[in-house]
Amino acid sequence: MINRNRFFELLPALLALAWLTTAQTAQFVADLDSQWVDLVPSSNDTANLIFNSVYSLPMSWPSRRYRNGHTIIPGIIPAGTLLYHGRGDPHIPVTPEWTALDSELSTLYCGILSPDDKECWLLTLVVERPLRVLYFDGYSGLKLPNGTIDTQDVITWGRVMPEKVSEEPLRIAKLCRWGERFGINGFVRLHTTHEMMLCDFSNGLKVDSLLHIKVPYNFPLPPPPNDTVDSLPHMKVPYNFLLRPPPNGTYTWNLPLDLFGMGEILASKRTDEYPGDTRIQLHFHRLVSFYDLSIVPSLVSQRFGQHRLQHRVLGISQADIVTVKARMEDELVEEKWANPVSGIDWSSMFHRIVQYYSGRLELIQLDLNSEDDSSNDFLRKIFLQLRGMIQPYDVFSARPTDGSVDDTSWAKPVYEACATAHTRFISTLTNLTPSERLMRGALEGTNREICRIITRMWADGVNHNVEDQQCDSDTIGRLHAQWKQDIDGLMTWLDWSIWIKCKPACSLDEMCFLPIAPYTVPAQTAGRLGRSSQ
Ligand SMILES: *[C@@H]1O[C@H](CO)[C@@H](O)[C@H](O)[C@H]1NC(C)=O
Ligand SMILES: *[C@@H]1O[C@H](CO)[C@@H](O)[C@H](O)[C@H]1NC(C)=O
Ligand SMILES: *[C@@H]1O[C@H](CO)[C@@H](O)[C@H](O)[C@H]1NC(C)=O
Ligand SMILES: *[C@@H]1O[C@H](CO)[C@@H](O)[C@H](O)[C@H]1NC(C)=O
Repeated sequence: MINRNRFFELLPALLALAWLTTAQTAQFVADLDSQWVDLVPSSNDTANLIFNSVYSLPMSWPSRRYRNGHTIIPGIIPAGTLLYHGRGDPHIPVTPEWTALDSELSTLYCGILSPDDKECWLLTLVVERPLRVLYFDGYSGLKLPNGTIDTQDVITWGRVMPEKVSEEPLRIAKLCRWGERFGINGFVRLHTTHEMMLCDFSNGLKVDSLLHIKVPYNFPLPPPPNDTVDSLPHMKVPYNFLLRPPPNGTYTWNLPLDLFGMGEILASKRTDEYPGDTRIQLHFHRLVSFYDLSIVPSLVSQRFGQHRLQHRVLGISQADIVTVKARMEDELVEEKWANPVSGIDWSSMFHRIVQYYSGRLELIQLDLNSEDDSSNDFLRKIFLQLRGMIQPYDVFSARPTDGSVDDTSWAKPVYEACATAHTRFISTLTNLTPSERLMRGALEGTNREICRIITRMWADGVNHNVEDQQCDSDTIGRLHAQWKQDIDGLMTWLDWSIWIKCKPACSLDEMCFLPIAPYTVPAQTAGRLGRSSQ
């Protein structure tokens, strides 16, 4: 028997042991198959798509990239927020109308709506108490029949009706009428910047100012110069706006500072990156996703074999529409406007994964693609980066056996620790809302796939002792090819918009952009806008 003093000496060690035991158990909470290496996500699985949608809320960059929204989510516009409304007369609307979160967008409209360059009125409203809104993700303020307003159609008309794309006045009236019983004040969409379809200009807001301002451009608008883009002779420039997206690759466009809409283009940049527009405070724990297989199974066959750019809600079954609307209405009942019971900040949970992995994966891919190097040093460089990611999960007990160099089964504990790292706690929670359970699944599924690939790559490196030993050129070639395939496959599956960027990065007087309205063709490549010397 140990005496009392001895016990206290040992206490820290005992506590550490107890902690270790818990940690050991925790590693095996998730029910992971022993054939972990082969657990490829099903082609119809939507974990990566839901992950992307949730992570992108409410950022402009990814929303302009994948225009066809798949998420509807309640939120709050906090007190003190300014909303702008430009018009050709000094009247304050008494019916639902459009407002912008940025003045640049409104002044654009005040010019368009005024009969000459003398009648431009900028109405500024200030939010007096938090406003309840419903947010449509994607490029939802782009009025095209190609999918950007499908989710609005589901709520507005009860089915997707591309032929009603131009029925904006009816749309706003119907949406507001529908939202009345839930106390919804407006609907937020991404135009060039964010806009709010405001149901009642005097409910929860007051007039902050109504100014008669100068129209910042002349009428009629000058035709765009046809010599602006030297490198793309076939490019057609739409009359009143900017540019057509390049088929691929990046290019430069010089913009005169007095260009119509120039201010709006510059404004569009503000909310591109995380955390997006922080004035739109979304209730992640109440989101409804059309990628949710449990409520929208009918879209699986519609999406099958389609690139994500083509995904839309068109083709959804009537039964699924009924389910989605009922679910949405259930999320909007009075008591659900409070904070989530779980207390989890979902946006941060998703951001953390992207933050942790995006730069590292990008760098490994860059090295694997750019270096035509078949030396052991090159392999070692990649291996050390893999080990950097695996480090927190590189448990002592997992070491290669004397088996074949292709056997990676010994790395299972590493994979398990990695695959459950960010989600172990939330996996045990039983008080999650249905939306939270959906997000949890997306986090787990995405994190698991990242870990499956990087653990396998790392284990290959350990098996070949890349760190300390010279491999023969055959092995180096095989590993290089395998790693390249692995990382390309993973990054294609993840498809994070943070990886779409101008390379090299823009300088201070340039702006990296994805095509803005009214371009009908979405693009996967970023272009570069620069100030012209005029
Ligand atoms: C968008 O929809 C219109 C009308 O249905 C169609 O003519 C056009 O080809 C579509 N564009 C794309 C890029 O799919
Ligand atoms: C622009 O195009 C028109 C018609 O193609 C041509 O007549 C004109 O000279 C061009 N302007 C410039 C500056 O190249
Ligand atoms: C775009 O990429 C395709 C395939 O990669 C290529 O065939 C085509 O020439 C490229 N177009 C331009 C304008 O660079
Ligand atoms: C995916 O969905 C398509 C279309 O519904 C179906 O034909 C296919 O069998 C599904 N694949 C898997 C792996 O479930």
